Formats: sequence, structure tokens, C-alpha cells
Amino acid sequence: MTTTRRQFLAGAAVAAGTAATSGRALAEGNPENLPPNVAEWSQYLGASVDEAPYGMPSEYEADVVRRSVEWLTASRESSINFTPLYALDGTITPSGVAFERHHGGAPSMNPADYRLMINGLVDKPLLFTLEDLKRFPRVTKTYFLECAANSGMEWRGAQLNGCQYTHGMIHNVEYSGVLLKDILEEAGLKADAKWILPEGADAAGMTRSIPMEKALDDCLVAFTMNGEALRIEQGYPVRLVVPGWEGNMWVKWMRRIEVGDMPWHHREETSKYTDLLANGKARRFTWVMDAKSVITSPSPQAAAMKKGPNVLTGLAWSGNGAIDRVDVSLDGGQNWFHARVQEPRLPKACARFYFDFVWDGKPLLLQSRAIDSTGYVQPTKDELREVRGENSIYHNNGIQTWHVRENGEVENVEVS
Ligand code: MTE
Ligand code: CO
Repeated sequence: MTTTRRQFLAGAAVAAGTAATSGRALAEGNPENLPPNVAEWSQYLGASVDEAPYGMPSEYEADVVRRSVEWLTASRESSINFTPLYALDGTITPSGVAFERHHGGAPSMNPADYRLMINGLVDKPLLFTLEDLKRFPRVTKTYFLECAANSGMEWRGAQLNGCQYTHGMIHNVEYSGVLLKDILEEAGLKADAKWILPEGADAAGMTRSIPMEKALDDCLVAFTMNGEALRIEQGYPVRLVVPGWEGNMWVKWMRRIEVGDMPWHHREETSKYTDLLANGKARRFTWVMDAKSVITSPSPQAAAMKKGPNVLTGLAWSGNGAIDRVDVSLDGGQNWFHARVQEPRLPKACARFYFDFVWDGKPLLLQSRAIDSTGYVQPTKDELREVRGENSIYHNNGIQTWHVRENGEVENVEVS
């Protein structure tokens, strides 16, 4: 009898959840569960311990999911599913909603058949199994990964109504793995070894040229994410981690690393992921993701604002170091306040900020601006366009504006 009642409740909640396709809608409550009554969940035994061997979020959180923009890409295999930033708090992106970006779909690989090959300008070419990799000294690190195309649709003006779509090509997770440096040194680098070319085992066979200086600095060969094996979407069983640098270089399902003396100039670093300037010339490489921030709530997909005390919150990150300060404006950048940035502020990882204020019901233009440990200040979109022109798609780290209407609804706008 208890089970039947539980299933009925779950069914109703899921129906309410699917009605909300783009944002957060509170499931309808039942006054009979409110004090002084004893709520139904207090009257019956709860779920048994073996009901969910692998736990899932509450059914009332069913709308906190990745979402895609149908018209953005020509196929579903070469596409993007965005992180629901508006519904998250803290800094760690839960694995199940971490944005995914593939160029040839996400392959499911048997780890027993996994091999990593090192070849090219090395003393001894090597072939590692996953077990071999796990015998190198291990490290655990938290880093953000931002696709260079994040906010790309917003170059020419406000486009998409929600930070899931404008800023959701980012995730911030904890990796465990080994230093790429240790693996390269095991193979032995020849004197003219100046570049590496990691290659994916997916149908896209993705490759990127990475300078040896970065490869020997902080790159990781990672096999876990948030404490468990990498998710398939994130490159199971092994991905490259290139801290602070554009997401495209973080090769997933990594099967080979070629060592060379020059960059290869493959597709992903020529016709794609380069920035076309106003004079028709393209910037050659733009590796580092500059400081950027976004207010995740209030924001278009989050619940409408109500008068009185409000918590404004968001994320800030920089590929050049840690977040030093985040400023918040309520009037489109005329006046700025310091937000409370939470500790720890890890380098090349997302920081969470809060700003507490009382809303009087008048329209607002919300903005945030990140300042990193190098002193770099996140620019306005106008400042970016002055330098880069309007042809760009990639590397838009301009300040985002949310317009709060008198009725508390929030929309994506641009102010100049
Ligand atoms: N690696 C392989 N093998 N294939 C790919 O399609 N996409 C790249 C990169 N690594 C890709 C890849 C791009 S463009 C980005 S932004 C990141 O992976 C996305 O990583 P994620 O799916 O964990 O978000
Ligand atoms: Co990308």
C-alpha cells in the first residue's frame, strides 16, 4: 500500500517537471502536508536502501538538466548540451549535468581495450594500458573547462534567454590523474621536442597542437572526475586536462600523443577556434580563457524576483590565475559593489560569489565583473568589439547584463 502511494506522488511530480522545459517551476504543493498536519512522508516508511544502487536527484529537481539549442548545430552527434548554471550553487558541477561537446558523438569504450600511445620525437615510443597509467604518482585538482565558443552567440547582441545558453559551455570539476609531464618523461623527450599533438579515439579523431611548455607545466592525464571514473560524455576512460586553456584542447578518449618540433595546424586550430578580426586576418592561437563571470541567479530561467531581501549569486573564473575580486552592478555598470567571493579561490577554477541586497521593485540592470590575480579586469562587450571587431565567435568574455522588470521577470539584454 505504501509503495502505491509513493508511485502516485512521483508520477504527479514528473508530469509537473516536464511542463517546465526551459527553467525552474516549483511543483504544486499540497496544503494537507503543512503544519499542524503530519505530512504524508512522515506517516509511512521511506524508500528501502536498495531502491537506488546509484543515486539520482529528487524527482522535484527533474528540470535541472542539460539543454541544447536545436538550431545551433547541423547534427545531434556534433553538438552541445549546456550546463544548467541557473539552478546550481557552489562551485563543483555535478557530473550528470556537466556540459558536453562532441564533434563525432560520445563513444562507449571498453577500458580493457584502452591504450595510450606516445610516439614522435621521443627516445622510446610507448603504449600504456589504463592500469599502467594508474601506476604513476597521482594528483587531484579542480579546474574549469570552458569551450572557446561559450557566449559566442552573444557577440553581436543579446540572443539567448538564460545563462544556461549564454554561459553554459563551462564545467568545473575535480579530476584525479597523473601529470602529463611524468608520462612524457617516461618516453624521453628528444632535444627538438617542442610540441605535442594529443588525439582522440572518437569518430572525430580530434587533434590539437599544444606547446611543450604547457604540456610539462600543469596538464593532466585524467581518469576520474568528481571522485568516480570519467563519464562517457567527458572522455571515459581518459581525457587530457589543459588548465585555463580553451576546452577544445582538452582531448577526450585520448588514444595517442605525438611529439613534434612544430605545431600541426589541423582543422581545430585553423578553420575553427581561431578569431577572425575586422581586417580579415585571424589570430593564430588563443589558448588562455581570460577572466569572466556571470550572475546565475537572478537570471532569465531562475524563479522571478520578489521584493525584499534577495541573494544575487554567480560564478567567476580566469585561465590566468585565481579570482581576486568580483564587482556587481544593479544599474548597468554605473555603480559597482564588492561581492562576497567564497573561499577557496583556486587558480584556473570557478569561484562562487554572493551579493545580498533588498529589492524595492524598480527595474534593474544586473552585471558582474571579474578581476583576477594578475589585475586583469573583465571587459564590457563594447570594449571587446573595439579590439576584435564583430566577426568573432570564440573567446567572448564580455560583461553580461540581465534586465529585471518591475514584475520580477528577468531577460537577457545588452547595454552600451
Ligand atoms: N575531444 C574529442 N576527442 N572529441 C571532441 O569532439 N570536443 C572538444 C574537447 N575535446 C572534443 C574533445 C571541445 S570543443 C570541448 S569544449 C571539450 O572537449 C568539451 O568537454 P566536455 O564534453 O567535457 O564538456
Ligand atoms: Co569547445
